[in-house]
Amino acid sequence: MMTRREAHRTVLSGAILAAAPGLAQAAALPIIDLPAPQTSGGKPLMQAIAERRSVRSFAPRPLPGEILSNLLWAAYGINRPASGDRTAPSWRHFIALEIHLATAEGVWRYEPKAHRLLPQRPGDIRAATGSQDFVAQAPLNLIYVADGERMDDTPAAERQLYARVDAAFIGQNVYLFAASAGLATVFRGALNAGKLGQILSLPPSQFVTFAQSVGYPA
Ligand SMILES: Cc1cc2nc3c(=O)[nH]c(=O)nc-3n(C[C@H](O)[C@H](O)[C@H](O)COP(=O)(O)O)c2cc1C
Repeated sequence: MMTRREAHRTVLSGAILAAAPGLAQAAALPIIDLPAPQTSGGKPLMQAIAERRSVRSFAPRPLPGEILSNLLWAAYGINRPASGDRTAPSWRHFIALEIHLATAEGVWRYEPKAHRLLPQRPGDIRAATGSQDFVAQAPLNLIYVADGERMDDTPAAERQLYARVDAAFIGQNVYLFAASAGLATVFRGALNAGKLGQILSLPPSQFVTFAQSVGYPA
């Protein structure tokens, strides 16, 4: 259910929409303030590693807010607030990766500092996040988007390589969180990155690396 703050933001979104039609797509969705993540507990690390696996069959049930909050924090949240550093390492500390979330309602982008979701576009684009049928059924598809501009003085091929390495570390965090929380997940490279980038209206400096489906096992 929407909190009062979120409802207020939805009203604000409507106001922005009227003032600037170009923002119409993103403005139709609310900003979602995630609950504070639970940063302790879960299964012991060795048990989570023992249970880590790829699962490609998902129940339609969406993830509760608390689980989504914990998942995103584990994936690439801030674990050292003084510096803003993250739960996954990043090549040369560029922190070039962003996580987009494709759900049945629309697409959001995770903003780790405020631990919230910023609307990107409404509509169900899940089927376009990969070439396998199950991606349309998974309640959540994470899309790992790199911003090449943050990797300055780096040749394009290396930007591609290291962005993908960064995404893989995030993906492993998601795998381990999923194992701990009893969720199903699979990291995915079988996708049309160019087409998906267009659907996400990514600026020229940004590109899709991998995606990862998450949900409850079917
Ligand atoms: C870079 C990379 C890309 C992958 N792409 C896909 C994919 O597009 N679709 C898929 O179903 N699984 C994908 N996987 C998952 C692998 O198929 C899976 O990890 C492998 O079969 C081993 O199974 P496990 O994860 O259960 O140990 C990918 C894994 C990696 C590391």
